[in-house]
Amino acid sequence: MAVVGRVEDFVDAKPRAVEVDGHPVCVVRIGDRFFAVDDICSHAHYRLSEGDVYEEELEIECWKHGSTFSLLDGRPQSLPATRPIGVHRISVREDGSVEVELGGDK
Ligand code: FES
Repeated sequence: MAVVGRVEDFVDAKPRAVEVDGHPVCVVRIGDRFFAVDDICSHAHYRLSEGDVYEEELEIECWKHGSTFSLLDGRPQSLPATRPIGVHRISVREDGSVEVELGGDK
C-alpha cells in the first residue's frame, strides 16, 4: 500500500503515472471514482498514462496502436492487444490521500 497523492492532484479523466514499489501504475480519476491499472500496455512497452480516457466506457486507450482497456478488469476491448493489464486496488482515505495496493483487484 503506497500513498500516490491527494485527491486534488488528480484531474478528471486525465491519466497520471505514479510508481508503487517500483511498479509503473496509471491512476485515472473519473469524477469521484479512482482506478489504478498497469501503466505499461500489454501489447508493447508504451505508457497508457499518455493515452486518452473514455469516461462513459470506463476505458483507457493506448496511444501507440489504439487498443482500449477496461479500467474495471484490465481486459483489452480492441486489438491489437490481446492480454489484460493488471488492475490494482485504489482507495481514498478520509484525509484525502489516495493509496494504491499492487495486485489487489480493485
Ligand atoms: S503498444 Fe499499446 S496497443 Fe500497441
